[in-house]
Amino acid sequence: MPFFGNSRQYADDPFAFMDACADAYGDVVQFDLGPQPLYMLTNPRDIERVLVSESTAFPKLDLGDDAVDQLLGDGLLMSEGEAWKQQRQRANPAFHSQRINTLAGMMTDHTEALVADWSPGDRIDIHVEMARLTVRIIVTAMFGTDIEPERVEAIQRHLQPLGARFEPDPLGQLVPDWAPTPKNRAFTAAVEALEAIIDDIVAERRGTATGGDRDEPMDLLSILLRAQRHGEATETDIRDEMMTMLLAGHDTTALSLTYTWYLLSQHPEVEQRVHAELGDVLDGERPTAADSRQLDYVTNVLNEAMRLYPPVYTLFRESTVDAEFGGYRLPAGSGLMLPQWVIHRSGRWYDAPKQFDPDRWNAERSADRPRFAFFPFGGGPRHCIGKQFSMLEATLILATVAQEYTMEYLGPDEFELRGSLTMHPEEPVAMRLHKR
Ligand code: HEM
Repeated sequence: MPFFGNSRQYADDPFAFMDACADAYGDVVQFDLGPQPLYMLTNPRDIERVLVSESTAFPKLDLGDDAVDQLLGDGLLMSEGEAWKQQRQRANPAFHSQRINTLAGMMTDHTEALVADWSPGDRIDIHVEMARLTVRIIVTAMFGTDIEPERVEAIQRHLQPLGARFEPDPLGQLVPDWAPTPKNRAFTAAVEALEAIIDDIVAERRGTATGGDRDEPMDLLSILLRAQRHGEATETDIRDEMMTMLLAGHDTTALSLTYTWYLLSQHPEVEQRVHAELGDVLDGERPTAADSRQLDYVTNVLNEAMRLYPPVYTLFRESTVDAEFGGYRLPAGSGLMLPQWVIHRSGRWYDAPKQFDPDRWNAERSADRPRFAFFPFGGGPRHCIGKQFSMLEATLILATVAQEYTMEYLGPDEFELRGSLTMHPEEPVAMRLHKR
């Protein structure tokens, strides 16, 4: 069994470490990242088995991190078994495609409001700007309410220490979560502040004349408040679910757009084709949900950005059975790591894998690729519930902004990445705005 490296090396640079593992050893690599044996699987065929065809044998790995429990509780991302099934069914109507399409106007409104605050020549941090926008959109969509800019700012401010807490940190692993280190204190304070904001929004909605109820199609908070009235959800359930949606529903999309803007700034020939398509399909008008389905090249650009820079860069699962992968026997109780980062950049599935080439998503070039050579949204029963939401949102944001501005990248030549719960740029992504 190939064995490679340890948690210190992973913490130093998870991306270089994963690459080195895969380059050195291929489909199955064991390494030492914690108390139990952990195996990295990089063959799409094995990813399919774990996520789809044998998914019941491979539940999510409990990373043993109290901070995750403290933050997300038993929200949809973390729950398991029957409880997860019920939660997923309950949340589904809020993500039904008909409902998602009705949100397009709101998504574009918020984007136009953001763009109206910009001026030609401004220097912006595009990641901060995209996060501000996606927080606003997810809150409006999931809580069924708009929130004042001050609250958006407060949410963003409190989200920052959360990310810092989840960066791989070899020394931090030696310190228990309850120890009052500055990082742990900042984390706890941020979680409490976010919970207070969520509780306030929930209380305000409950205080409205209808008791928070809405006509169909429903937002998630209406669904949960109704479940609570029927004795099927507690106050804590509502808070965990809303916190999960707030976190899972904004950071990932903001990152996918940040990487897209960066890549466009480095590839003027791709940018020109985006502009050409926007001209053909929109002719200067606001994009709608129907338009988004015609923006094929924009969709290829977004997918290609998520291939090179997957916001969720690895999934974790646990094997509940003895299982064989790539000729090796992995004992029950093993941890499994399924890294989008490695598979999306592998020369086995992609020609010139480091190149930004949106045309590789054309039907004829992608037909022979295995399904799980690309899985930015996961797969199987636990696939991302927000996939459609996020693709519509990213397309509308890209189309709205790109009709007004191009961006000149001002950051360091070396675009470095940092691993946290999601994959972040190491430095602020500074851009100069130019009017089109
Ligand atoms: C580019 C944007 C996004 C990416 C890359 C992304 C990625 C993912 C991935 C990889 C998973 C599977 C995790 C696993 O199997 O362990 C997931 C699950 C999930 N995502 Fe997303 N996501 C995005 C946007 C969103 C949005 C907009 C929402 C909410 C509106 C959302 C909510 C969730 C939830 C609740 C789950 C857990 C689903 C379950 O286990 O039943 N995500 N996401």
